[in-house]
Amino acid sequence: MSEIAKLQVGDQSYEFPLIKGTENELAINIKTLRGATNGVITIDPGFKNTGSCESAITFLDGEKGILRFRGYSIEELAEKANFLEVAYALIFGNLPTSEQLEKFHSDIKAKSVVDDDVKKIIDAFPKTAHPMGILSSLTSALTAFNPSSVNVESEEEVYNAIVKIMGKFPVLVAWTMRKKQGLPLNYGSNSLGYIENVMKMMFEQPNENYEINTIVKNALDKLLILHADHEQNCSTSTVRIVGSSHAGLFASLSAGISALWGPLHGGANQAVLEMLEAIKEDGGDTKKYMAKAKDKNDPFRLMGFGHRVYKNFDPRAKIIKKAADEVLNSLGVDDPILEIAKGLEREALSDPYFVDRKLYPNVDFYSGIIYRAMGIPVEMFTVMFALGRLPGWIAQWKEMRFKKEPIGRPRQIYTGENERPFTPIQKR
Ligand code: ACO
Repeated sequence: MSEIAKLQVGDQSYEFPLIKGTENELAINIKTLRGATNGVITIDPGFKNTGSCESAITFLDGEKGILRFRGYSIEELAEKANFLEVAYALIFGNLPTSEQLEKFHSDIKAKSVVDDDVKKIIDAFPKTAHPMGILSSLTSALTAFNPSSVNVESEEEVYNAIVKIMGKFPVLVAWTMRKKQGLPLNYGSNSLGYIENVMKMMFEQPNENYEINTIVKNALDKLLILHADHEQNCSTSTVRIVGSSHAGLFASLSAGISALWGPLHGGANQAVLEMLEAIKEDGGDTKKYMAKAKDKNDPFRLMGFGHRVYKNFDPRAKIIKKAADEVLNSLGVDDPILEIAKGLEREALSDPYFVDRKLYPNVDFYSGIIYRAMGIPVEMFTVMFALGRLPGWIAQWKEMRFKKEPIGRPRQIYTGENERPFTPIQKR
């Protein structure tokens, strides 16, 4: 195949080189387009056909349902690795040796204490605050307590910022949840593993010794691994574009958290559970909701279905569905919501509307059911997604920084008024 793409604009023709990725994906490199054509640009709202970068972190093939981090398949990682190993691989490129993992973990632990004054910021939030809003604010506020983290030119400070956020973020997550529940804000224990520590901080009651439940621990490890990265999605692109202005890691992550909050992205896991609850309250008639989802005059969408990239199946959803069954069985939870979810999935998979549009359950169709079984409040589900996505955001931000990518600044086609005279207010 020829290595060039030809473009005809009016009666002029132009040639652009093709770029090939390691999995043979092809892109037309239009870096010279605007200059060569005297101002012609491409337009692609939602970036459905536009690559924003070359990246060596995550590969996904939406048609074949493949997801790999640094070349390792998501199925193998979810089965054989723990979250911290996956975080290391995403951020530094390879799975760690035991020494590398130990050093990474001990650096994280050394930086995991959050300044006590952060509690004053949490106190200032009204009861109505959504945990994602609190988390985004606290993550941004960390810069004020760690000013050297804005030095994005220094590899050493970037490493420090990485281990600081890996250590402090679970504290912020736990504090966000505990504040809403009226529980004292605690610290974890450096003698525990990363996930065990997260659990202790989140679930420990002030008057009880906290015992780690291994089933819950394994499920949480798996869930966080499945969410750890997903190439150039909405929140990751946000993190990269904010960081491209040389904003520090924490400020970039805070913006990513805000992007993740929306119901079309990470907020879907909360929306799925609210939808399943509503269907249950309404008598459990899944057919009624299927009809609503298909009705173009009804804004209702089947939450947890469809994906911008996966047009066959979401490999993460397969793993999660199995984990949901296991966790619920082992914890002895009999949740009618699971039956409603399975019913909806069955109907959607054989319904021409969903089949024709290639709409399949995504990762968040089942994750909320597991989080609920773990005793995590619905409002916190997207925060759990953020906790899982943290290493992916860090890896993508670091890659963008060290490749010295230019500032992200898209163009536009202007469709407003042409120049017109100013009319004084009395004459308008
Ligand atoms: N329910 C009903 N119809 C749907 C759904 C759905 N969940 N998702 C897409 N469609 C329909 C659209 O109405 C559209 O129909 P049309 O061609 O007749 O107009 C068609 O399928 C294509 O949909 P788009 O919105 O154009 O697809 P896009 O790739 O832009 O959106 C998205 C993907 C946002 C995930 C969408 O499928 C959606 O809103 N799903 C529900 C929310 C959700 O679960 N989000 C989580 C995504 S995964 C994640 O972030 C971790």
